[in-house]
Amino acid sequence: MKNIPFKTFWVTEESDGSFKNQIIQRSTDDLTQNGVLVKVAYSSLNYKDALSATGNKGVTRHYPHTPGIDAAGTIVESNSDKFQPGDQVIITGYDLGMNTMGGFGEYINVPAEWVVPLPDSLSLKESMVLGTAGFTAALSIHHLLRCNQKPADGPLLVTGASGGVGSISVAIASKLGFDVTASSGKADQHEYLRILGAKTIISRTEVDDLSGRMLLRPQWAAAIDTVGGNTLSTILKSLKTHGNAASCGNVASPLLNTSVFPFILNGVNLLGVNSATTPLPLRLKLWQNLANKWKPDFQNINTQIVALNEIQLSIEKILKGEITGRVILEHNHNL
Ligand SMILES: NC(=O)c1ccc[n+]([C@@H]2O[C@H](COP(=O)([O-])OP(=O)(O)OC[C@H]3O[C@@H](n4cnc5c(N)ncnc54)[C@H](OP(=O)(O)O)[C@@H]3O)[C@@H](O)[C@H]2O)c1
Repeated sequence: MKNIPFKTFWVTEESDGSFKNQIIQRSTDDLTQNGVLVKVAYSSLNYKDALSATGNKGVTRHYPHTPGIDAAGTIVESNSDKFQPGDQVIITGYDLGMNTMGGFGEYINVPAEWVVPLPDSLSLKESMVLGTAGFTAALSIHHLLRCNQKPADGPLLVTGASGGVGSISVAIASKLGFDVTASSGKADQHEYLRILGAKTIISRTEVDDLSGRMLLRPQWAAAIDTVGGNTLSTILKSLKTHGNAASCGNVASPLLNTSVFPFILNGVNLLGVNSATTPLPLRLKLWQNLANKWKPDFQNINTQIVALNEIQLSIEKILKGEITGRVILEHNHNL
């Protein structure tokens, strides 16, 4: 075992119940020895990381803790013959950054079963521009496709479109030939959404029906919803017959108020998306898709690179819904 000192973002629970964070030095020996030690080059900021960083016990039960559900880097030590020191790898989801010390530290130690080899046609940095957000977008699209969704069926709605999952969903779905409608609360991001491939852009208030009606005018053949709450309720009422909605987020609310009419009169499908628990064979297949035929044009994705000492500002912004695109943490940034 190597005893390597490293820097990490460290969240502590104070005696008054508040949560604080600072950057401290730890040693790789302090990490739970799960089998594979990885030197993290890049992580990324997801909404869940912001929850973990601010004491959300639904995400992280025990503190002190290092968030970061995404990591890309190089293997230093491995107890598995599948991986050798020097291999470049991606780790997203499972328990990383939740109750296992995550990618906001310069080293992680994870089980070999969580590790995905970096596909040939992706760089470490590109893999984190995608990260859990890109993987969740790919998984959402996978669920729509397994329900036989086709571009000819009609428009595909993406909500929270300027965010991480939303941006990459717009980019991939339009690359696959779907007529994408992007719903956004940010009037100044319409040009960005068009560049990503959205044909139509609507305000998020247009997917927030307050009429109390059980069904609405059918508008979309499919949807990828990152918002939840009344937005998802509105989507279900507005899907075309046999439409499909992939539910992957809850930035507005985890609650869902619906009737059975969208299901029993219009035959719509509500598809659950959980990136963290995706089995390895599907995980490997989706990363290959992301690296090849579904690969978005990275130049179009609004990407901000930050250093460890800058991540706190981005955490505050993502909690206020102010992030556009992706925030990437580069561990040797500014050195
Ligand atoms: N199921 C899974 O496996 C999985 C994986 C990753 C993420 N998620 C979830 O997906 C959601 C999005 O994650 P993310 O990382 O993409 O977050 P993000 O980058 O912050 O994007 C969320 C977007 O939602 C919109 N939004 C924010 N607050 C809103 C509100 N109150 N009402 C309506 N829209 C609002 C904003 O976009 P506009 O301004 O463009 O509307 C915002 O940019 C989160 O709930 C996250 O937990 C789930």
